[in-house]
Amino acid sequence: MRLSDRVAIVTGAAHGIGLATAQLFVEEGARVLMADIDVAAGEEAARSIGAQQGKARFIEANVGKEPECKHVVDECVRTFGRLDVLVNNAACFVLKGLEATREDWIRIMEVGVFGYSYMTRMAAAEMRKIGGGTVVNVASVSSVVAQPNFVTYNASKGAVLQLTRCAAMDLAPDNIRVNCVCPGLVWTSIVERRAAEARLTREEVARDWAPLQFIKRAAEPREIAYSILFLASDESSFCTGSPLFVDGGHTAQ
Ligand SMILES: NC(=O)c1ccc[n+]([C@@H]2O[C@H](COP(=O)([O-])OP(=O)(O)OC[C@H]3O[C@@H](n4cnc5c(N)ncnc54)[C@H](O)[C@@H]3O)[C@@H](O)[C@H]2O)c1
Repeated sequence: MRLSDRVAIVTGAAHGIGLATAQLFVEEGARVLMADIDVAAGEEAARSIGAQQGKARFIEANVGKEPECKHVVDECVRTFGRLDVLVNNAACFVLKGLEATREDWIRIMEVGVFGYSYMTRMAAAEMRKIGGGTVVNVASVSSVVAQPNFVTYNASKGAVLQLTRCAAMDLAPDNIRVNCVCPGLVWTSIVERRAAEARLTREEVARDWAPLQFIKRAAEPREIAYSILFLASDESSFCTGSPLFVDGGHTAQ
């Protein structure tokens, strides 16, 4: 098992990629603290993954707020005794163009950039005590390509890529590796919701994206979770500051 005896925090773990990651981490031997704002879904997710065996626990937290980030890290150490892996995955999807207001910018950056930075700083303080650790940020193809009317989201994901590189440099002396995954289209609740608003089926969404990708479908959350597992585990021991694109070929053309 790739994460035997490791302890991980996954943010945004009630749904989608975060949930699939928490599930896979437990299968690979980790104990996982699952942080999210969605209490009902988060509690249910932790129960289904292994709360009863002490392998998973849910904690309500808005990771855009610094004191709540501290609470998550403190609770992780109190519950599981240590912290080896942080997955910054939560996102607030403010999908706007240049019409975005100051409030829009604050909402998206607070969760998707400030929160990733707070969590990384607080997690690193605990990882130093045990001689190191790994941080995996969930970025996106949107970190590196332009998409129509996505100024807020793509700017936030571009920031995640640079946050990853700079934190990797600053934390390398502490034996803490920091990497990011850059998924393409993944079939999760946010994509499903936007498809429903546009009255599109999953097949129609895949058809619209087809010219952008070599693999002409949406990914399953678990396909992204495997790449997060790789970057979280010792198998990626020489990777730091790296983006791993899991995008069906989107950024290869
Ligand atoms: N779905 C895609 O196509 C896709 C593509 C590239 C990158 N991503 C990235 O993957 C990550 C996960 O997205 P997803 O597609 O699984 O979406 P999702 O909506 O299924 O999951 C996001 C989770 O984050 C939680 N969350 C939102 N705000 C929060 C906050 N302030 N504090 C704590 N939790 C919060 C939500 O409750 C939800 O459980 C995001 O960073 C997203 O930008 C998604």
